[in-house]
Amino acid sequence: MKAEYQDDPEYPKLLDNNDSLGHFRQRFFLKKDYIYMCGNSLGLATKDAEKCVLEVMEKWKDEGIKIWMVDNNKYYLYSRYLAKLMAPIVGADADEIAVFGGTTINIHQGISTFYKPTKDKYKILVDDVNFPTDRYAVDSQVRLKGYDPADAVKVVKSKGNFMDEDDIINAMTEDVALVFLPNVYYRTVQVLDMVKITNAAKERGILMGWDLCHGVGAVEINLKEVDPDFAIWCTYKYLNGGPGSSAAIYINRRHHNKLPGLAGWYGNKIETQFLLRQNFDHQQDANGWQIGTPNILSMASLEGALRVINEAGIPNMRKKSLHITGYMMYLIEKKLSAYGFRVGNLREDSRRGGHVCLEHDEGYRISIALKMRGIAQDFRDPNVIRLTPTALYTSYEEVYKVVETLLDIMKTESYKEIDKNRSLVV
Ligand SMILES: Cc1ncc(COP(=O)(O)O)c(C=O)c1O
Repeated sequence: MKAEYQDDPEYPKLLDNNDSLGHFRQRFFLKKDYIYMCGNSLGLATKDAEKCVLEVMEKWKDEGIKIWMVDNNKYYLYSRYLAKLMAPIVGADADEIAVFGGTTINIHQGISTFYKPTKDKYKILVDDVNFPTDRYAVDSQVRLKGYDPADAVKVVKSKGNFMDEDDIINAMTEDVALVFLPNVYYRTVQVLDMVKITNAAKERGILMGWDLCHGVGAVEINLKEVDPDFAIWCTYKYLNGGPGSSAAIYINRRHHNKLPGLAGWYGNKIETQFLLRQNFDHQQDANGWQIGTPNILSMASLEGALRVINEAGIPNMRKKSLHITGYMMYLIEKKLSAYGFRVGNLREDSRRGGHVCLEHDEGYRISIALKMRGIAQDFRDPNVIRLTPTALYTSYEEVYKVVETLLDIMKTESYKEIDKNRSLVV
């Protein structure tokens, strides 16, 4: 989408007045004089999430152990319940989705299920710019199968921070058994062409898994069209599920008869689960990949959050996200280029996700200075400030204020008073 913007303090007000998603701000807990640009890391709490958590608390208080059975076994079958809410967000059928565990756990679940190395086909293809937990999980799964990651993990190198899809495809040699990649990159926010890469893997008899953490809730995802073997994602970023809220897994239905790499009693068929037999009676849909007792409280906050997302609709959210991030990029280039700032993400709409990747050689200290002025965002090495104007709770006026604040920080050089030594968590 090509949008024309204006550099005028009244202009963002006009955009806010015409924002068809603007009313969703009221559904979130927003603080006065605090601008939240961290939705790519931890989405804000919704009133809907609070309501669902309080409901669970009431049921736990009233019912004790019977909480598992109330409302037609809603909480015993909570993964299935949430999968129905998740299905439209990732374009899959509900029985191909299970909501459980954590992101890294679910990466282990996916890889351990699909990585079946043979003498000639034993490599996992990854890149060198993904969030490192994916790599740690892949390396350890390879080691568990008796291989050396230095040989069995094939790393496609990025070029100037970005991945070239053709390099990925060219690296799909006969010895590759599985490809595991993110659909949106955590730092550069680059979007990969999931269909192109998955089709290329399929044509070569290679299995394909996706990490959707930075894409889900930010970009449109159609797993039916992409048709990968599996995918995993977290729910606490753009989905606003809450700190550490349960993650999700997608298992393509063509694999539902396979056994999970990591089995547990919640993956047993519900009809026989409570017979507590010693043999695993696998539930033949994505729920068969669940492991243990679900984290009901963190799933409850997710329930409320997903309801809000579905009400807004991902296509509408993506449209606003592209427009508001476009506005931010416009202001950055107009007002901040003279101060050494660069927009570090790709420009085409189809190749950028939900945040703006703002680069500056003094990025760390500028990021701290922004925090000191009530603007939440984060810094990623070596020079990236991630700024996320979200579709549902960020106003155009806030975007304008962030850029004005950056301008003031540079003009006053207030960032120079900040210690260059890094704090532990940024
Ligand atoms: C691509 C990606 N995968 C996984 C994770 C995190 O996994 P977990 O939820 O297990 O901490 C992140 C965290 O930001 C991420 O960016």
